[in-house]
Amino acid sequence: MIETVHSRSRISETSIPFSEFRDLEASALDGIVTSIKDRMGPSLKILGHHYQQDEVIRHADLTGDSLKLSQLAGQDQACRAIVFCGVHFMAETADILSRPEVAVYLPDRAAGCSMADMADLDSVETAWSELAVHLDVDQITPVTYINSSAALKSFCGRHGGIVCTSSNARRVLDWAFSRRPRVLFFPDQHLGRNTARAMGVPLESMALWDPHQAMGGNDPATLHDRRVLLWKGHCSVHQMFKPSHLDQFRRLYPDGKVLVHPECMMEVVDAADLVGSTESIIQTIEHAPAGSSWGIGTELHLVNRLASRHPDKTIHFLSPMVCMCATMYRIDPPHLAWCLVNLERGSPVNRIQVDPETANWAKVALDRMLELR
Ligand code: 13P
Ligand code: SF4
Repeated sequence: MIETVHSRSRISETSIPFSEFRDLEASALDGIVTSIKDRMGPSLKILGHHYQQDEVIRHADLTGDSLKLSQLAGQDQACRAIVFCGVHFMAETADILSRPEVAVYLPDRAAGCSMADMADLDSVETAWSELAVHLDVDQITPVTYINSSAALKSFCGRHGGIVCTSSNARRVLDWAFSRRPRVLFFPDQHLGRNTARAMGVPLESMALWDPHQAMGGNDPATLHDRRVLLWKGHCSVHQMFKPSHLDQFRRLYPDGKVLVHPECMMEVVDAADLVGSTESIIQTIEHAPAGSSWGIGTELHLVNRLASRHPDKTIHFLSPMVCMCATMYRIDPPHLAWCLVNLERGSPVNRIQVDPETANWAKVALDRMLELR
């Protein structure tokens, strides 16, 4: 991943090196993590995103989708350290939303999000200046998916914009359209397109913005008719799901239901029975009747966990290909143990700290989202 200047992450010279943990047995690593959690008590919170592997998520005090985790990050009064088992943008968000006395750590600093890296501050600022030549940018709301750097959240804060997650994108776009007629949505074209379409915005009123081309590859004359400008970014995991996979599943399970994440392409979302965030996928399966069959289009670790937790239901991963989030997978038991040992002994590694100026404006955009009901 690209590490921004806004996010500092250091390993002190006195810390125990990772090499001492890499080859430890699983049981030894489990023992290390459990005993440090016991000793640190409520001053430590381990947050885990649903895509984490089982060996890591079982140590999490709190699990959730991006919205739930960002709400939880700000809440606990006794907490002094958050160890975030997720990816870089999630740890940055926790740092921005948590109280000043809380420090946030990411067990492996290379755990990024390839989608978040598809939009950076320079290219968004370039797009904004190019748009300003042809449109009134005071009439455009920048909306960033939470899967983005703190720098982009800060950009949205400064320009009257807002953050969204996969579980509140519709509410956020309603808010945006109640204030200004146009939206620039980054970095995930699919979440933007799927949400806007569900609100009744026709495809002809949307344009794709390719940051590698002048004017995003658009003829300026056509932009006046566009209400939603979609950044050309995507999730490499969710783009693997194709409409033909739904056909295959339905041939096998004519009564089965297909449930997908809104980062999937429009053709997949349109053909699915249900669409939702990771948290809502979990809730849907928990409330589904015994004997029901499901084809699920989201990251492999979550789908496998659902299948093993619900043996009374038939749960299939929707794609014949393995689609796992390789960066989430970097957070493994050796990195978690390494991070905790160094934290406890006062030589912490991989603190994620957003600089105050960026954090202040990013918090403006995050708070706008969190205030929406
Ligand atoms: P959720 O907010 O649904 O957990 O999604 C986060 C994510 O990165 C999905 O790819
Ligand atoms: Fe990013 Fe996709 Fe991984 Fe989610 S699944 S963290 S969007 S790369």
